Amino acid sequence: MHVARLLLSTLTAAMSLAACAPATDKAPAAAPTPPPQASVREINLPISINAVMVALVDHASEPIWLDAYRPPTTDAGWREAEHHAYQSALSGKTIQLAGTGPNDSEWVRDPEWIRMADEMSNSGMDALSAVKARNIDQLTAAGDRLVASCNACHVAFKPDLPSMGLYKSPDYPPPQP
Ligand code: HEC
Repeated sequence: MHVARLLLSTLTAAMSLAACAPATDKAPAAAPTPPPQASVREINLPISINAVMVALVDHASEPIWLDAYRPPTTDAGWREAEHHAYQSALSGKTIQLAGTGPNDSEWVRDPEWIRMADEMSNSGMDALSAVKARNIDQLTAAGDRLVASCNACHVAFKPDLPSMGLYKSPDYPPPQP
């Protein structure tokens, strides 16, 4: 690892030296070499994926489904809908990082998990377009795609009893007046 890094930096140094040397022939200059990629920092969630499900995934998606039935009537309502769409799109990416749940790191290594999580994220992006266009049919279609993504993954990965004893809040979303 260290040796590889040392080699890389030596190589880069040699190349930049070569780039600075005065041109002695008319050969076209080589395309600049991009700097070596910094090593990717591993990020872990401070909570379990199960908790992300309850606090973010579910919290964002339920109102989207409700909005498709009873569309917002005010600008503020549509802005809320937009935030929920953003949250859904983000949550599909968030659950690709392992958190503190006992199964998290195994799940995020599974390509099927990633595919299904991306599907949830893409459904959120569909919801975002629908909300921006104020288009209820599109929002309904996005909601259907979203719920299909939840179900597909739960069938494949969700244990009967969620880890760490966290369940969906029965009071969310709050009843509409
Ligand atoms: C990529 C896989 C995946 C996707 C997509 C997914 N879930 Fe989950 N979900 C899980 C897993 C796995 C658990 C159980 C986690 C555990 O036990 O540690 C879970 C747990 C939950 C829980 C908490 C447990 C419970 O039964 O109350 C809720 C709520 C939930 N998911 C809602 C949703 C909703 C709503 C969607 C779609 C908008 C969704 N999930 C999409 C994998 C997924």
